[in-house]
Amino acid sequence: MEKLDDPQQIAQLDPQGMLQVEEAFYTQLVQAREIAQSVDLSKISGKKYAGVVFTGMGGSGFAGDIIKSLIEHSVHIFTESVKGYRLPGYVNKDWLVVAVSYSGNTQETVACIEQAVKLGATILAVTSGGRLAQIAQDHDCAVIKVPSGFQPRGAIGFLFLPTLLALKKLGIVHMDLVDINEGLDAVKNLSARLSRKVPTGKNFAKQLACAIGDRLPVIYGTQGYLRCIAYRWKCEINENAKTPCFWAHFPELNHNETVGWERLASVTRNFVLIILREQDEPPSIKTRIDTTISLIRENLGQVIEVPVEGRSLFCRAVTALYLGDIASVYLALLSGVDPTPVEKIEKLKQELAKLDQS
Ligand code: F6R
Repeated sequence: MEKLDDPQQIAQLDPQGMLQVEEAFYTQLVQAREIAQSVDLSKISGKKYAGVVFTGMGGSGFAGDIIKSLIEHSVHIFTESVKGYRLPGYVNKDWLVVAVSYSGNTQETVACIEQAVKLGATILAVTSGGRLAQIAQDHDCAVIKVPSGFQPRGAIGFLFLPTLLALKKLGIVHMDLVDINEGLDAVKNLSARLSRKVPTGKNFAKQLACAIGDRLPVIYGTQGYLRCIAYRWKCEINENAKTPCFWAHFPELNHNETVGWERLASVTRNFVLIILREQDEPPSIKTRIDTTISLIRENLGQVIEVPVEGRSLFCRAVTALYLGDIASVYLALLSGVDPTPVEKIEKLKQELAKLDQS
């Protein structure tokens, strides 16, 4: 029996149940949609914003990235996603600052929200508690309160969907609810096909994990939301499978990285390149991906082209996100790694917290 098809081994390797969190992603999205309905936006509605800036790190920061990528070509105000301690100089009191931190205690995000308070900007906090919730309460800001008890990356549905729907309610985003429903239905479908019960022979997420195995994965996306999703795959492989992983995106990678595969073939033949591909790629993207593969293929161990499916961008994004998330958990389990803890991140945060106390 394949290791990933042995329920007992899986249970032993995953005592905190990260795979269960992934298998329940559809339910999380349904709950997230309900949270969106109950959020009180009265403090921040009826205003005309100059722009929206998302601030957050890691799993929480991804919520801002993916929302920005989904809306940036259709909204008529500035959108920005900040991963660091400072808001850009052009953010002022006319901006909406969306601060996303699952724990509420991430130093960078707290610094940005404090800056937003000083600027007199409008704030929407998305969190399960911590300092972010406290600051939001002290300054009477709007809050999307998400359930606690998850790893931030495992709570991505709670972090991004209510935020996106809040922006829709505020009239900033024009997204069709049909698209959201399509995405949720597709995730429901996909999760049935990718659950632990489905054997490796029929389970694409398990197959991806097996294809990576002990080789180094590199993820390529294209522009927009697929760029974000490629980055998410990289982060999930890092955090769940504790495996190095690198990423890049078309078309930019064609102006640098494509040449970088020329040397060190003895090393890179142990790499697996995973490319996220849409069926209806415009000819300029299709040609560059096909040509790139033919130019670099011989110096790679394997190239896997992953089809991204769905009519709407939302559906494509949420299903591609889901596939990467669950495949990274299977990679952890295949490698004998507990997917849940991220000890090095915790240790680093403890060291940084000492700075605040000194
Ligand atoms: C851990 C994870 C991390 C955190 C990041 C920021 O599961 O996903 O990338 O998201 O360290 O912490 P929070 O999300 O609490 O602001």
